[in-house]
Amino acid sequence: MTETLVSLWTDARRRLEAAGVDSPVIDARLLLEAGAGVGRVDIVTDPRRSVSAEQVAAVEALVRRREAREPIGHILGHKGFWTLDFTVSADVLTPRPETEHLVEVAMETLPKGWPARVLDLGVGSGAILLSVLSERPESTGIGIDTSGAALAIARANAERLGLSNRASFRQGDWTDGIEGPFDLVLSNPPYIPSADIDGLDPEVAKWEPRLALDGGPDGLDAYRAIIAALPGLLAPTGVFALEVGRGQADAVRALAEAQGLQTTTPRMDLAGIPRVVAGKRAT
Ligand SMILES: C[S@@+](CC[C@H](N)C(=O)[O-])C[C@H]1O[C@@H](n2cnc3c(N)ncnc32)[C@H](O)[C@@H]1O
Repeated sequence: MTETLVSLWTDARRRLEAAGVDSPVIDARLLLEAGAGVGRVDIVTDPRRSVSAEQVAAVEALVRRREAREPIGHILGHKGFWTLDFTVSADVLTPRPETEHLVEVAMETLPKGWPARVLDLGVGSGAILLSVLSERPESTGIGIDTSGAALAIARANAERLGLSNRASFRQGDWTDGIEGPFDLVLSNPPYIPSADIDGLDPEVAKWEPRLALDGGPDGLDAYRAIIAALPGLLAPTGVFALEVGRGQADAVRALAEAQGLQTTTPRMDLAGIPRVVAGKRAT
């Protein structure tokens, strides 16, 4: 039987559905586009176009990887976040839509035209820091990560997005050796309790870097380390914003307030989960 764009798409969709992938239609289309080297318009306007044996083999190789629950971002090598496209790999957490709420806080905090100094702790792919710098052309920022492989991806993203003149990256353990003052400190740290990681979807448990997930026995280890350093890093009018996991907002606020920081009502994500704990130095 001659394979066509639509027959390949249908077969891929069925297989991804059977493998438990939660967005089989979209993922099958993305893999078809990447493997067969066609565009969305080709699939929609010319679905019965026949495909070569090479195209079939290339799509098959990608579908097999997704059937094994490898994240779609790892397979395609990039992921959209905020308004930008980021190179991603197995060395960095795939940026998540809920993390865009940290960028929203940054937009509300940093007036346009102001040369703010921004710190991103656990920078990963650079998604948060580079999105903020892209929106605030007078600002500069530092991204910290303990993973050298993640920093290589962040640097490459900064270069490709034309932001490397305002973004610097440093390998380190959270705030060790970092000197303030910063107008904004952002972090999406690892926050999954260690014992919960293996129960997450395979895309996360099997494929995302453990260093990006593991928040210690109660999920709060990174917050303890970061929050203890915030009073010494924030400018007098500086603001911090931390992404938190489900059910962690109260505990993280309490950690911040125990350091003499003032917090505001946590920002909810689109699912109604308190997702960002933000605040500033007490006046
Ligand atoms: C949840 S990921 C966030 C990545 C990226 N900021 C994002 O939101 O997509 C957490 C990041 O923290 C880094 N990390 C883990 N432990 C660290 C430590 N002790 N010091 C600095 N970074 C650390 C991980 O390597 C990972 O890149």
